[in-house]
This record gives sequence, structure tokens and C-alpha cells, in this order.
Amino acid sequence: MLSKMKINNICCIGAGYVGGPTMTVLADKCPNLKVNVVDTNKKRIALWNNKDLSNLPIYEPGLSEIIGRARGKNLFFTSDVEESLKNADMVFISVNTPIKKKGIGAGQACDLRWVEASARQIAKFCTGKTIVVEKSTLPVKTSEVIEEILVSTSKSEKGKEFYVLSNPEFLAEGSAVENLLNPDRVLIGGDNQNAIQILKEIYLNWVKDEKIISTNLWSSELSKLISNAFLAQRISSINTVSAICEETGANIREVSTAVGYDSRIGKNFLQSGPGFGGSCFKKDISNLVYLCNHFELKEVANFWEQVLLINSWQKNRIYRNIVSKLYGNVANKRIAILGASFKANTNDLRESPSIEICKKLIEEEAYLIIHDPQVSQESLELELESPKGWEFQKNINKVFIDVDAIIILTEWEIYKSLDWLKIYPIVRRPSWVFDTRHFIDADKVKKSGFKFWQVGSCND
Ligand code: NAD
Ligand code: UGA
Repeated sequence: MLSKMKINNICCIGAGYVGGPTMTVLADKCPNLKVNVVDTNKKRIALWNNKDLSNLPIYEPGLSEIIGRARGKNLFFTSDVEESLKNADMVFISVNTPIKKKGIGAGQACDLRWVEASARQIAKFCTGKTIVVEKSTLPVKTSEVIEEILVSTSKSEKGKEFYVLSNPEFLAEGSAVENLLNPDRVLIGGDNQNAIQILKEIYLNWVKDEKIISTNLWSSELSKLISNAFLAQRISSINTVSAICEETGANIREVSTAVGYDSRIGKNFLQSGPGFGGSCFKKDISNLVYLCNHFELKEVANFWEQVLLINSWQKNRIYRNIVSKLYGNVANKRIAILGASFKANTNDLRESPSIEICKKLIEEEAYLIIHDPQVSQESLELELESPKGWEFQKNINKVFIDVDAIIILTEWEIYKSLDWLKIYPIVRRPSWVFDTRHFIDADKVKKSGFKFWQVGSCND
């Protein structure tokens, strides 16, 4: 009987931004469980196993300390998928689910090839009873696909039984450890109450009972998409307001503070910037739009699509503003780029607004000196897709020499304490500072001699 099933071994397929931190915290909080995190990317696995904890494949505040405690005790990173699955009582699927690039649904639908491959691996290698947990963000009804693959395989093999649960992840990069240790909620969707209870028992090791909610499978899958859609919608909303502020003399910080004081609205996610980035918001809303169109809910699809359109508009508007202030010409101008990651405290460049703006500037033949505290030259090369027109400078003091403009694109804390009085003498004049995050002290910059533009402020 499933109710008597004891979980000893966990396997997580996918050692990425979710699989890595999630399983690290789980292993640390459940010392009696053995946790194997597997990935087909051997380079990534080698980095997770690197002795030097500053070389982990992802940067997350607080993560290396926990890895240092758990790795080699009950937490293991390996490429041996077969062996890890053979012994697993519970398998988390935490693989990438990007947007399809080609074919039916290209640009909107989710590419499920990695999820399907995972299901086939589970069906092939797992033995006995196995609880399969969807951790990846998936289109509604994907669990049906997973279940069909698992069941059709297990029919012919005696003793194999699978129970599928949905347990979406809500962590945000840059605060993943904090979010995992103190989640707002843990959501478990499923139709087998025993399986739900078994997964719940694991979370109860560190999460309070009242924060663990259970729903049916479809509600769980949909809630994840809707949570991201609501968050992204707030950002697009506040970004439209930033443009009104720039025209009217209102100030976006003041407006978002005043609006956010209303407890029904709340103060979070009202920070205007160069548009949302990251691997998920665009993907998940595109997916939601695809789903709505599939069910012929055209008006609903159009409503959510607008969130994406405003996001592109904001990035474009800011880019055009920059070029316009630089006399409509950036060719041969040296421009300092502060921040490449899609937000602070992560090394993730996926869908970063900074990368998109950099690409456009390179296309206009500007020369960029890019600084970021955590990203690597290698990952920038991959994302920028151009060997020319830019250099990566790790030393912040060498970024500003002879530049015509400085663009702040990621809100890294170190940019707040830059000494503008010291920077001004080494730039080429007239020189601009563009603060696309509305995050540095406008007066200090202006007093140093710079021309200054800030998102959501009246700029003259
Ligand atoms: P990622 O690309 O960083 O990691 C996925 C990993 O899975 C890769 O390393 C890849 O090599 C591995 N993989 C793919 N197929 C495999 C297979 N068959 N066997 C073994 N390994 C395989 O992705 P991520 O950012 O960790 O996101 C994973 C999922 O979680 C996505 O569905 C995403 O939408 C969701 N999610 C992401 C975040 C986030 O902050 N990044 C937060 C919540 C949810
Ligand atoms: C987001 C959600 O916050 C997580 O709950 C979710 O689990 C995750 O997506 C996911 O499914 O992948 P993440 O993308 O890591 O997390 O980071 P966020 O803090 O949400 O920021 C996303 C983007 O929005 C960043 O580019 C950030 O700079 C921008 N943002 C965020 C704003 O422009 N303004 C804000 O007020 C907040």
C-alpha cells in the first residue's frame, strides 16, 4: 500500500537554477534522505562538485554554505541517471521547459522534449513504487502526458507503479535560498491523497503545516502560470506609469510608494525598470496566451499578451531614449554598461533586458565596456552572439575611461556607492548617466557634472 511507503532515496532530474538549490535545501533539512541530483550536462555536474565553492555553476547568496554542509553526506550531484533512478522512491522533474522555437506553437508553446525524455527515463529505470513530482513549470495537463508515458511502460513490467504529483517551484533567483527556507506556500497538486501526504511529510521537516496547500493537478499547474502572470502584470503596469511620470513631473518612486501603501495593493513588485527578464515570465505568459487561444478564449489571451507587449515597449522606449540623448548616434561611442544579469544577485543572463539593450547598441556600432559582479566572459559571449563591439571588464575602476555614457541596467548594490565625483574627470564630455532602474541618487550624479536620465523621473 502506498500509505506505508517510506521514502529513503530521492532523485532530481535537472541540476539547474531550480534543481540545484531546491535539492540542496531539501537534503540539508532532511538528513535521513539521500538526494541525488542528476544532469546530462557533465560540465554542470563537475561544477556542482567543485571543491572550490566559489565555482558553483550558479550564483545564489547563501547557497555555497549549505552545499558545503550537505554535499557528500546525503547530497550528491551525478551524471549517472540510470543508477540514481534505479534506487529512487521519489523523482523530481526539474528540467528546462523553454518556448518552442520551431513548428506548431513556435514562440508561445512550451517545448516539452526534456520533460518527455525525463518521463521515459523514469519509466525505464525506476523500479517498484515511485512518486514522480513535477517541479518544472508546465502547461496545464502535462501531468496527463507524463502519466501516460509512465503507465504505458509500467503495464508490461511487473511491480512498477507510478504516482504523479505537481509541486511547482516559486523561488526567485537571487533570493532562492531564503525563498526555499521560508516559502510563502508549498503547493502540491495530485489525485492520490497518500502520495500528497508523503510529499507533504518531507516539507513538514521545515515548513509549517498551514503553508502547505493541496489542490487537484490542474489547479496546481495553472496556479504556477497565473502567479507568474500576476507578478509580471504588476511590473508592466508600473512601467506604463513610469512613462506618465516622465511626461508629467510625477516621480515613479513616490507614486509606487504611495500606491503600495494600500494594503490591498501591497508594496512588492512595483519597481519600475527596463522591463522584466529571466527565463520564466515571458515563457510562462506566452504559454498562458497559447493555452487561452487553444480554448478559444481570445479576449483572455489578448489581455495577458498585453503584459508582454508592454514589456517589449518599455525596453525599446528606454533604448530609443538613450540613443536620442546621445545625438541620435552611438557609432564609435564608448559606453559603460553596469550590470548584465536580468536582476541583481544572480549570474543568470536569460532574457536579460541588459543583454537585449547591449545587442541593439552593438548593432548601432557602439563599443561597450560591460561590467557585472557575477557573470562570466564565456556566458556573455554566448548571449551577445557577437565577438566584436564589446569587452568585459571585471575591474569597476577601469570601466569608465573615456566613455560617452554610463548605463545602469542591473540593480547591483555596488553601483549605489559609486563615487561620481571621481568618475566624472575620466569620462569623455559631455557624458551621460542613464539609470534604467531608478535606483541611484540623482542629485549626486548631477552635481558631479554628468547629464542624467532616470526611468520614471521628469528628465530635462
Ligand atoms: P535550467 O536550464 O537551469 O536547468 C535544467 C537542467 O535540466 C539543465 O542543466 C539540463 O541539462 C537538465 N536536463 C534536461 N533534460 C535532462 C534529462 N533528460 N536528464 C538529465 N538532465 C536533464 O532550468 P531552471 O532554471 O532550473 O528551470 C527548470 C524548470 O523550473 C523550468 O520549468 C522553469 O520554468 C522552472 N522554474 C524556474 C525558476 C527559476 O528561477 N529559474 C523558478 C521556478 C520554476
Ligand atoms: C520569478 C518569480 O518571482 C518567482 O516566484 C518564480 O518562481 C520564478 O519567476 C519562475 O517561475 O522562474 P525570477 O524571475 O527569478 O522569479 O525573479 P523576479 O524577482 O521575479 O524578477 C523577474 C524580473 O522582473 C527581473 O528582471 C526583475 O528585475 C524584474 N522586476 C521585478 C521588476 O522590474 N520590478 C519589480 O518590482 C520586480
